[in-house]
Parts: sequence; C-alpha cells; structure tokens
Amino acid sequence: MTQPVLVTGGTGTLGRRVVARLRDAGCAVRVLSRHARPDEDGIRYLTGDLATGAGIGPAVDGVRAIVHCAGGNKGDDVLTRNLVEAVKSRGGAPHLVFISVVGADRVPVVSAIDRAMFSYFGSKLAAERVVAESGLPWTTLRATQFHDLVLMVARQLGKLPVIPLPSGSRFQPVETDEVAARLVKLTLGEPAGLVPDIAGPQIVEVAELMRGYLRAAGRRRPILHVRLPGRAAAAVRAGAILAPEHATGKRTWEEFLADQHLGGH
Ligand SMILES: NC(=O)c1ccc[n+]([C@@H]2O[C@H](COP(=O)([O-])OP(=O)(O)OC[C@H]3O[C@@H](n4cnc5c(N)ncnc54)[C@H](OP(=O)(O)O)[C@@H]3O)[C@@H](O)[C@H]2O)c1
Repeated sequence: MTQPVLVTGGTGTLGRRVVARLRDAGCAVRVLSRHARPDEDGIRYLTGDLATGAGIGPAVDGVRAIVHCAGGNKGDDVLTRNLVEAVKSRGGAPHLVFISVVGADRVPVVSAIDRAMFSYFGSKLAAERVVAESGLPWTTLRATQFHDLVLMVARQLGKLPVIPLPSGSRFQPVETDEVAARLVKLTLGEPAGLVPDIAGPQIVEVAELMRGYLRAAGRRRPILHVRLPGRAAAAVRAGAILAPEHATGKRTWEEFLADQHLGGH
C-alpha cells in the first residue's frame, strides 16, 4: 500500500481542490483540519492545530508528501515552523510542498504602516525560509491572487455605498483550480525548490476587477480611489505582486465571473 499524502488546509479554498485532484490521481489522502469531519472515500480527516502543534504528530506520521495549504492572513511562519518541527521530531522526510504568494520577496514589510496592511507578505516570506531551511526535500510555488479570494473581497466591498480601492494597484488573478493542478503535479514529482510562479492570463487594474464584479452582480456603486501610504503599497503599485512572464493561467476574471451566476445581466 502506498504511503498517503497529507494536505494541510485541505478544507480550504485551494486545499479542497488539491485533495480532490490527489484522490483522482489515485493517492490516499489525509487532511489536517482544526475541526473534526467524517472520512470520505480515499480521504481521512485528522484533527489538529498548526498554531499550537496539537494533534500534528499523527497527521504527519508515515506520509510520503505534505502539501502545505493551511494559512490565514498572518502567522504562516509559525504554522509552518510547527509543521516542520512535528515532521522532524517523528523522524520523517516527506516531500514538503508549500504554496506561497507572488511578491513575498518583493513587498517590503518594514514599517508599522507596511505591517498594518501587508504583514501577510512578510509572514509568507518567513514561512518560505522555514521550508527551504527545513532539511526536508521541498518545493515552493508562488501564486498570484485566486479568483475566489478576489470575489470574496469584491462581495464584501460591494455592500458599501462607496467602494474604497487602492489607486494604481493591479492584480493578475488566477483560477484556484489551475493552482491546485500545478501543486498536485509538483507533489507527485521530484522536489524542485523554488519553481516558476503561477499567475493569471491578464493584468487588471483593481478598479476594473471591481467594475467587472459589479456588472456581473447587476449593481452600480461609485469607486473612491485611495492612495495607500508606505513602501509595501508603493511596491504593489510598481507591480511587485505581478508575474507577467508567468501568465500561464488560462481562465480570465470575466470567464470566472460569468460562471458564478451573480444575478446581473
Ligand atoms: N487566496 C489567495 O489568493 C492566495 C494567493 C496565493 C497564495 N495563497 C496561499 O494559499 C494557501 C491557501 O489559501 P486559501 O485561500 O485556500 O485559504 P483558506 O480558504 O482560508 O483556507 C485556509 C485553510 O487553512 C486551515 N488552517 C488555518 N489555520 C489553521 C491552523 N491553525 N491549523 C490547521 N489548519 C489551519 C483551514 O482549515 P480548518 O479551518 O478546517 O482548520 C483551511 O483549510 C494559503 O497558504 C495562502 O497564503 C493564497
């Protein structure tokens, strides 16, 4: 019997697509979650918390690879350190596959203002270092913003009477399932270190992304352009979160929106 693959964050937006694709590829899959769930065909759910390290040992025992998709707005470095420590304390050496973000190395998080808005990039870079220095065989993929995330933010902002958006910022959103497919391919391959980024097919002004959402949802709202202070925001305006040379994603934001049936015309 082949050893299972563990997916941390396998209940999340990206992780559940990774889980489905691994299962379809014939892998036995373990999912680590903070919440108990009944097992499914080919998928075993284990309960643990990467923030405290509780319950991680049994999840990592005997796996051949770990796809590390667990994360939040901050603290990814702590979660990743606890994961690596649990693996090493059990004497394992699985292939550790990490999903990071385009710009982790280019958005400087130096001042209190940067930290207030962009600490996510700093913690992703720190987590990348934990992976690279873990002594485990590793692969790290940086992705741009997922369509699902952009939609979630657009939905929240769309409830406001006036929508504040950072001026001069462009995104290159990518289809979440295309990222999942790439991660699975990397997981089933040889450890490759930092691999070429994955990014969506188009670079789009943030306001244009929002207008696309509003059109698809049949709403009209004024947009207020706000110039964000700090070096991190300046780096984002200069394109630090874009990867034009890796625009390998196929699905566009407009195509994604059309499939969401948001109620507009
Ligand atoms: N969203 C984007 O646009 C984007 C872009 C580039 C990279 N990424 C990276 O991709 C990864 C996945 O993002 P996502 O959007 O799929 O996130 P998500 O939907 O918010 O899912 C987060 C997952 O992390 C798990 N998790 C959170 N804290 C945990 C903890 N303390 N212990 C164990 N599990 C924990 C959650 O599991 P439970 O709630 O079941 O415990 C959940 O499955 C993240 O590392 C993110 O930084 C995201």
